[in-house]
Amino acid sequence: MRKYFLKCISCGKEFREDEVDYYCPDCGERRGTLEVVYDFEQVRKQYRCSSLPLHRKGIWAFDFLLPFEEEVDPPELLVGNTPLYRSDSLARKYGVAELFVKDDGRNPTASFKDRASAVAVAKAKAKGFDTIFCASTGNAASSLSGLSAVAGMKSVIFVPATAPTAKITQLQVYGSKILAIDASYDRVFDLSMEIGMSMGWYCRNSAINPYLLEGKKTCALELAFEMRDNLPDFVFVSVGDGTVLSSFYKGFDDLIKLGLISKMPTMVGVQAEGSAAIMKTYERGYPFDPVDFEASTVADSICVGKPRDVVKACRYTKAHDGLFLSVSDSRILRGIIELARETGVFAEPAGAAAFAGFRKAREIGIVDERSRILVVVTGNGLKDLKNVSAVLPEVKTLPPEKDVIEEALR
Ligand SMILES: Cc1ncc(COP(=O)(O)O)c(C=O)c1O
Ligand SMILES: [Zn+2]
Repeated sequence: MRKYFLKCISCGKEFREDEVDYYCPDCGERRGTLEVVYDFEQVRKQYRCSSLPLHRKGIWAFDFLLPFEEEVDPPELLVGNTPLYRSDSLARKYGVAELFVKDDGRNPTASFKDRASAVAVAKAKAKGFDTIFCASTGNAASSLSGLSAVAGMKSVIFVPATAPTAKITQLQVYGSKILAIDASYDRVFDLSMEIGMSMGWYCRNSAINPYLLEGKKTCALELAFEMRDNLPDFVFVSVGDGTVLSSFYKGFDDLIKLGLISKMPTMVGVQAEGSAAIMKTYERGYPFDPVDFEASTVADSICVGKPRDVVKACRYTKAHDGLFLSVSDSRILRGIIELARETGVFAEPAGAAAFAGFRKAREIGIVDERSRILVVVTGNGLKDLKNVSAVLPEVKTLPPEKDVIEEALR
């Protein structure tokens, strides 16, 4: 008896893992993204403890709900087990019952994407690959780069040349083969598929690889194990290709099926106004034919005009009564500063988009004074200093003279 199988999100066709690696051959790359479906009898057999050793094992403490039949030999780097903070000052300021911040920028390469890359690298190893590739706006890239390095695998990374310097430097430091291409993420993605697949490397591309979402869902699992049946009413998370958002639905849903929680929070997917492709598709309604366009936003990680996981994100949102919101770039940049000053958590623009989404939801009355809120910060602010620096006052250099320094203090 196998623990899981793969199922096409559009036609429902089912596959064993050895029958297909990436997507449904009948429905193609975007419509045919696959879902990992578990046999919960098998999962129950594997799941024993009610308090998990997260502090040592991070995401691997949830191996009973991860897509591996055998015991995994995970990369030796602690992924997950990120801090959950309660901010009474933000709750007071916005008049909500409680507000929590999950700081996923505290992962080893400083973004949420480590959760997916850890699973992808373990999968590539189990399948016997020695090289793994991805196209990325930057964070999937740096996380794949770091996790491949520690696992002794080669990584080939396709990124837009405009990715923030810190993210490209991470790739250099970890020793990936870097292909920085003068094109948008959407175009870079298509090129990576043509080249990477023809080279026979393992593909860690959003939505194409069905196991990434399983790694990402460990954030929802952590929340549920920490908060139990006291989960927040609303969870705000930023959306680019759509996999991060879908992973929360999937994580909570798997736990409901396992009988460990009884209800799912309302998920709010937050997009930047200039790249709200999934929100536009959702507004068009079923069957969610993708609305693609040229995207533009300061939040480079969610600057996606041709989202790859759009069908799943829309279907899950519909099935669970979720919501989408979009926020302007200036709200995102102001959000970085406010969140840092109130909570100490320094978010990159895509991370702060979730907080900006919460503020908007409060303004327009989606959340009210009884609401318990959680904001997921998906990436660390040190990843992109340029955009936030542009809205901060210049730091003046002072001469080493006491009276001038004292004058500056006044
Ligand atoms: C920091 C950050 N937040 C959010 C996202 C959005 O994730 P997804 O593309 O799965 O929607 C990304 C993706 O790169 C990211 O790096
Ligand atoms: Zn199909």
